[in-house]
Amino acid sequence: MSKPDLKHSSCKNGIWDRKTADWYVARWGKQPLHRAVPELCQLASTERVLDIGCGSGTVVREIAARLSTGEVLGVDPTPRMIELALEISDGHELSVPVRFIEASAERLPCPDQSCDLVLAINSLHHWEDVEAGLAEVRRVLKPNGRFVLIDDLWEEIQRHSGHHHSEAQQESHSHWISPETIAESLTTAGFSSTSCEYRAPEIAVSTITAQPRR
Ligand SMILES: C[S@@+](CC[C@H](N)C(=O)[O-])C[C@H]1O[C@@H](n2cnc3c(N)ncnc32)[C@H](O)[C@@H]1O
Repeated sequence: MSKPDLKHSSCKNGIWDRKTADWYVARWGKQPLHRAVPELCQLASTERVLDIGCGSGTVVREIAARLSTGEVLGVDPTPRMIELALEISDGHELSVPVRFIEASAERLPCPDQSCDLVLAINSLHHWEDVEAGLAEVRRVLKPNGRFVLIDDLWEEIQRHSGHHHSEAQQESHSHWISPETIAESLTTAGFSSTSCEYRAPEIAVSTITAQPRR
């Protein structure tokens, strides 16, 4: 599996500049993983879904295409990502409401207990403040809702880091958070969680499903 090489990367407080966002979306905006997300998160057809760090919105559209009722909201703090998500979504006929809002994990534009499913796809390791973001996820989730985090596999990333010593690759992997550390943060934030690996052609990810502890 090839990994993002953020050699064009320029970001401030988690917000990517236009050039970086354009480069990322051209290279990684649509991946085999994105098509697998509805199955990986065991989507029901009537859910209210939030995708945190939605990028150009590919997963939002994949989810929306499988819902009969409900709605999908994608949030991302990078203005260019939201611009691209809106541009690409224009003309897509979807049977449920889809919205994109410029916002970060640390301050979600959702009422308390309003979401059945919250997603973070290759997103959490970009958050400025994971603790604050997880507190927000807990706030917006319904008591029986779930938070599904999907990240490229840690072992694969380490293997690639070992094989490629370019400065850009070291930099792009330096802030990666292992599934074990994520699980610990989830426990501290009041979630119980289970994790598993999923491999399919061109996909190798860890999936963590977390639910608010009562
Ligand atoms: C690697 S991209 C993943 C995009 C998309 N989820 C995908 O799978 O293609 C990470 C995204 O996280 C966003 N991001 C950065 N800081 C964030 C934060 N504090 N809260 C939410 N998203 C953030 C970036 O703007 C970027 O769009």
